[in-house]
Amino acid sequence: MSQTSSFSPVQRLVTLVREATGNVIPAARVSFLEEVAQRRAHACGLAGIEEYVTALAARRLDDEWGNLISLVTIKESYFFRAPQQFETIRRRLLPQLIEAREEERQLRIWSAACARGEEPATLAMLLADEPGLAGWDWRLVATDLDEEALAGARLGLYGERAVAQVPPRLLERWFSRRGKLYELDAGLRSRIDYRPVNLAQAPYALPLDTFDLVLLRNVLIYFRRPLQRWVVSQVARRLARPGFLFLGASETVWQIQGELEPVDLGPCFAYQHREPRPAEEPPAAPAPKRSAPARKAPAPSAESPAEERPRWDPQEHPRDWSIARAAVAAAPALGAAAEPAVVEPCGVFETLMAASRDLAANRIADAGRAIEQALAADPSEPAAHSLDGFLHDLCGRAEEAAGSYRAALYLDPSLFQVRVLLADCLLRLGHRDRAEHQFREVLSLLASGRERTLLLFGSLPLPDRERAQRRCRQVLKGG
Ligand SMILES: C[S@@+](CC[C@H](N)C(=O)[O-])C[C@H]1O[C@@H](n2cnc3c(N)ncnc32)[C@H](O)[C@@H]1O
Repeated sequence: MSQTSSFSPVQRLVTLVREATGNVIPAARVSFLEEVAQRRAHACGLAGIEEYVTALAARRLDDEWGNLISLVTIKESYFFRAPQQFETIRRRLLPQLIEAREEERQLRIWSAACARGEEPATLAMLLADEPGLAGWDWRLVATDLDEEALAGARLGLYGERAVAQVPPRLLERWFSRRGKLYELDAGLRSRIDYRPVNLAQAPYALPLDTFDLVLLRNVLIYFRRPLQRWVVSQVARRLARPGFLFLGASETVWQIQGELEPVDLGPCFAYQHREPRPAEEPPAAPAPKRSAPARKAPAPSAESPAEERPRWDPQEHPRDWSIARAAVAAAPALGAAAEPAVVEPCGVFETLMAASRDLAANRIADAGRAIEQALAADPSEPAAHSLDGFLHDLCGRAEEAAGSYRAALYLDPSLFQVRVLLADCLLRLGHRDRAEHQFREVLSLLASGRERTLLLFGSLPLPDRERAQRRCRQVLKGG
């Protein structure tokens, strides 16, 4: 164990959680972890957090890990999350895989951090509807670290929010109303094999060796970069050839992984094994460069003429920038009352400052590179994720922007400006209920006085407190 007794009990617990699960507990969540640990200590009959952490570290409370993990991990998920990925799987990848597996008539799919089962069940609906798979042996393995979440998945009961994106035809076919809840069809659930797997610890206890399709979405963001790299390489070993890996809309293995390469599928990217080049092959004529996954602005290159690069043009993105334009018009000072989030004066801070200046000056590709660099240096820095979201937003990629804003808010839930941007993204994506929820969160955050702003964003047009409040009220009144 790397902790010493000179650390506070909660700091030791942060280290224990990271060592056991890979999950980085951001500074803004440490007090929450402390509260949880106090409660758990009492539930275990211990005097307090110090005794609790000591017992966990000494492996005297091994059964307790399940309770703790369930309370500290984020299980945000819903059916048809990132619908462009599911649509691409249905239209483009299933036909390819069906052709490739025609002889065996088997398809193997793994949802590698499945939360309460929304993701594998969405896949199961697609597969059940695919005429080309009739009579095939298709199998879905759904794993997660959190056994309580897996128990929820096996039960198959979901609230309104989780099913909000399910097309009405599928809702009718696969769910039954149980009071306020929706129960997923038992037959569909029986096609899914739910199992506990901790991605941070090998070997993974999986019932199959390889998979044709793997979804590893919205979990790498909680890990540090070396662990992300390691997990992706473990998952790559389980990916069949041909086979496709999907990450969350704001995640990428770009620059962290050599075995896989991105495949541009139009509305989204997936990853597949890099084709090995035969040693005797003569040097090929330079192939057209594949652009980086959608999360980054394309780097300027000879093949990418300047006019094709995204530009920050309010005329071009009018709906995206209502707040930003209003803020520019009034040239507001950032909310003076808000406590600034401290960004350490180090390389990452300077890189992000440069990125925010680049964004403000419309140098999108430069900003993209700087943000990439900052994220590689410190993936637990909320400012880096916020700027990443801003860049996506600017390029009209609302789904990716929302993913990055969520990552920033996970790391620091009190960043009210980021929450407003997320809420506006959700509105543009047609998720009015979720957007309203975020706007209400902003109002209660501002009322509590615990909001924080990023000084880093000084050069960018973001709403100050008053404008944020006005925007929230306007939307909540139906505007
Ligand atoms: C935000 S949810 C993502 C759910 C789903 N993949 C999606 O994109 O909607 C993250 C999930 O990762 C799980 N998780 C966190 N650390 C993990 C680990 N080390 N191994 C496996 N799962 C983990 C959490 O329990 C949680 O269910």
